[in-house]
Amino acid sequence: MIKAVPGTRDILPGDIPSWKHIESIIESVFSRFNYKEIRTPVFEETALFARGIGESTDIVSKEMYTFPDRSGDSLTLRPEMTAGVVRSFIEHSLDKKQNLNKLYYVAPMFRQERPQAGRLRQFHQFGAEALGSNDSMLDAEMIIMAFDILAALGLKNLTVKINSLGVPSSREEYKKKLKEHLLPGFDKLSNESRKRIETNILRIFDSKEEQDRELTKDAPLLIDYIDEESLLHFQKVKEILAGAGIPFEIDPKLVRGIDYYTNTTFEIVSGSVGSQSALCGGGRYNLLVKELGGPDIPGVGFASGIERILLACENEKSFVPAPEGIDLFIVALQKGLDSFVYKAALAFRRRGLNVDLDYLGRSVKAQMREANKSNSEFVLFVGGEEFDGNEVVLKNMKDGNQFNFAKEDLENIYLNIKEK
Ligand code: HAM
Repeated sequence: MIKAVPGTRDILPGDIPSWKHIESIIESVFSRFNYKEIRTPVFEETALFARGIGESTDIVSKEMYTFPDRSGDSLTLRPEMTAGVVRSFIEHSLDKKQNLNKLYYVAPMFRQERPQAGRLRQFHQFGAEALGSNDSMLDAEMIIMAFDILAALGLKNLTVKINSLGVPSSREEYKKKLKEHLLPGFDKLSNESRKRIETNILRIFDSKEEQDRELTKDAPLLIDYIDEESLLHFQKVKEILAGAGIPFEIDPKLVRGIDYYTNTTFEIVSGSVGSQSALCGGGRYNLLVKELGGPDIPGVGFASGIERILLACENEKSFVPAPEGIDLFIVALQKGLDSFVYKAALAFRRRGLNVDLDYLGRSVKAQMREANKSNSEFVLFVGGEEFDGNEVVLKNMKDGNQFNFAKEDLENIYLNIKEK
């Protein structure tokens, strides 16, 4: 039997109420901040991600689904959205239509990581990108929106970590200092970190290896090296967050795994989901638009993993999705009424009611079981003595009240259901 590829998941009908719940919260929070939805292609030219995310990052060097298409072009299933959104922003000159573009998305992403709880190969992110302003309000807004969405889902066990990476010139200065600090202990570093000393030294802070942690414990911190302007910018972000009631902590070792960041970076982690605890991450990327061939326009954004959030919600039992139901189930009390039942169902459906009926020639008892399973608010009984007398019976399943209607009087049946 062919099974789903490891690290991919079916979202079954029973899972949908939770997904819809989270999607409706995402949409309403982004709308309140006037972000507009954007949808970009699932695959892009490989070069976009290599340039945008950075060749030496784990995502680009190890995790991308990259393949030549039939004409030999190298394509990649998007591992994240920011690069694609920026490509689209440049391609369509969105800056000419709007000085500040506030965009959001909800979409599947693909990374060939080792699957485990909260880590998938196809996963879904929601996120936002604001292109066109360097104002600290937007940095703070990203964190506020992410936090508000998680809080609206009832999540409690959350920590907001923020940091500033400053601008590349001060970062280069700092990288030299960090290298000087780490080189005497080079032999004690893990293999991965030894490689990173040359390729991506800041990422050594992300290592979970004990020996690396020991060596980075007293390392100089980037925040002590960043320029005055970046410090002021960061100070303002902190003030806005404090004013917005967001509990945050400063994590000077928060470096994130993508190369495009400048200034603010942040993550929100959950204490309820084990090792894959980052529910969302983001930051400012003031050089990315230019690096990808566009104008010199700053940006800031974040993205959040929906499967990981749902895992946290399950573990905290943070919400119970409203059960799905229908308005009406039509029960046929005898054979031979299919044509009437189907026509009535169709008339109600075309008026906008959610209606179901029996397609399996089942007994009345089995049809009633189905009506209950479908969580139907009303049942319309068609057949028996009443039908011989040209009537049908509508039962309100909540209070048990029953009313007879002339069988042609679908309009009044409709109104009766609609009013409840
Ligand atoms: P990221 O930190 O790579 O950032 O991913 C953001 C979130 O996506 C993570 O915090 C996590 O919740 C989820 N995620 C990542 N990988 C997986 C996976 N394999 N399985 C399940 N969930 C996962 C970005 O993607 C940036 N584009 C964020 C950003 C937007 N920065 C600026 N704008």
